[in-house]
Amino acid sequence: MGTKIAQIKNGSGMSEINVLIAGHGTMDDRKGATLTAALCPGSFDPPTNGHLDVINRAIEVFDRVVVGVVHNPSKTPFFVAEERVAMLDEMVAGRAEVQAFEGLLVDFARVKKVDVVVKGLRAISDFDFELQMAQMNYTLAGMETLFIPTNPQWSYLSSSLVREVARLGGDVDTLVPDNVAKALRAKVGKDE
Ligand code: PNS
Repeated sequence: MGTKIAQIKNGSGMSEINVLIAGHGTMDDRKGATLTAALCPGSFDPPTNGHLDVINRAIEVFDRVVVGVVHNPSKTPFFVAEERVAMLDEMVAGRAEVQAFEGLLVDFARVKKVDVVVKGLRAISDFDFELQMAQMNYTLAGMETLFIPTNPQWSYLSSSLVREVARLGGDVDTLVPDNVAKALRAKVGKDE
């Protein structure tokens, strides 16, 4: 199976985070099972109110929710995985498990024993790529994806726009949870 835990350093090299690197497997053993555990995956760079809305709604529907924070070693994120995990941990306050992962989403899903992936759809423009990913995950491992229509209140919101607004000194307080707004201000040097 090849599942292992790796440690990655955060941006300043001060502390470490466990990242689950999952090996390959199949999902055949859960065919016909009731869906009770869900995975909400994403980059969450940074997490927004839109992400939190989808995670909260998944928590209402499923017995167990895992928030999977993708760690891609070939990319330089705005917030390192450890920071994103810490922000999400505070946001879900014990109602979901938050963990970083590296590698294929379906392998992480199998290791965490989740039955279904839950993703938000903001607009039809999201649909093309989300459909491709959902179909790929189904082909790879029979992993089902359920889409939740994003609350219209947040349909314009994206992590990349939030980063840009924060970088340019705009107010992000209504777009992200308080802890994320604070982290953004600290990151762009606008901490008062
Ligand atoms: O928040 P995002 O950037 O839309 O999330 C994308 C994510 C993390 C769900 C996607 O990049 C992903 O699943 N990455 C893990 C690698 C993988 O499994 N790739 C094949 C998916 S079809």
